[in-house]
Amino acid sequence: MTSSIAKARARANIALAKYWGKADVELNLPAVPSISVTLDPLTTETTVELRANLAQDEFLLNGTAALGGELKRAIELLDRVRALAGTKLKAHVESRNHFPTASGLASSASGFAALAAAARKAAGLPFDADATSALARQSSASAARSVLGGFVELPAGKPGDASLAAHQLAPADHWSIAIVVAVTAEGRKSVGSTDGMTHTKVTSPYYESWVKAAPALADEVRAGLLARDIARVGRAMEQSTLAFHACALAADPGLLYFQPATLAAFAKVRELRAEGVTPVYATMDAGPHVKALCHASDAAAVSRALSGVPGVLRTLLAAPGHGVELL
Ligand code: DP6
Repeated sequence: MTSSIAKARARANIALAKYWGKADVELNLPAVPSISVTLDPLTTETTVELRANLAQDEFLLNGTAALGGELKRAIELLDRVRALAGTKLKAHVESRNHFPTASGLASSASGFAALAAAARKAAGLPFDADATSALARQSSASAARSVLGGFVELPAGKPGDASLAAHQLAPADHWSIAIVVAVTAEGRKSVGSTDGMTHTKVTSPYYESWVKAAPALADEVRAGLLARDIARVGRAMEQSTLAFHACALAADPGLLYFQPATLAAFAKVRELRAEGVTPVYATMDAGPHVKALCHASDAAAVSRALSGVPGVLRTLLAAPGHGVELL
């Protein structure tokens, strides 16, 4: 092979049943099952060009050379693809997030899903959803879910099982729901997910309880979404969020991802629900933003209500979207 180029697009996702904790750090296998919805319009587009004349991998993220941990994780993914494809060519990678400015959603899931798909294609490997998802998972487990569209599950991993991949539970058009993101802060989160999980596992007295409780919550979320039962999904989703945060809060020192506006937005979601008109439920990740799940027909009203909460900077509307696309 001399040189070759491939481009892919992938979307962010939000977990309805949360992943927090690893069964195998080396292979990046989750300790618990997680279920997510892949989201439009939050996309990342990535081009990978394998070039004969490059001495080392190059990675431009939103037009700027990536360094440190970001570059290292990308090179590790490229190394796995090179080993599979039997090539030594270095890559020039350009990745762009088409996210609304400071959307409050992580771009690592869409980023690694797009990189995995584009790198495999550039290296001449055939498209294979399982292999792409397993490859993305090794860089960031939530990225395994962004390879698929609609409603997606990543099972818990068994130590040593390098092939673990996510699979689709239902396509994007299965259920007309929306996710309203209430953005409560600018800038990056204090402790990233990878470090936060390790810290929780090592120091939180609640870690084992969380790992034990998570599968039943994922079962509820799965059953609820297959039945399009928003109350069933929503209740289990809120418990999954609060249980993983409780586990992280109990670490030493505790991981506190909430800001005052996080709790205010969460309270607003429960207030709306208590009025009995709008079924709406909240979830949070390793950051201060609140993501509300509601029927698509209620999204505008939920967005208006959350925009009025003190400390909420803006809201953003997202809906179920497709999996990774080769362009
Ligand atoms: C709280 O997938 O970012 O968003 O595998 O270490 O890269 P790594 O972690 P990551 O963790 C996501 C954690 C979460 C919940 C979720 O998306 O399931």
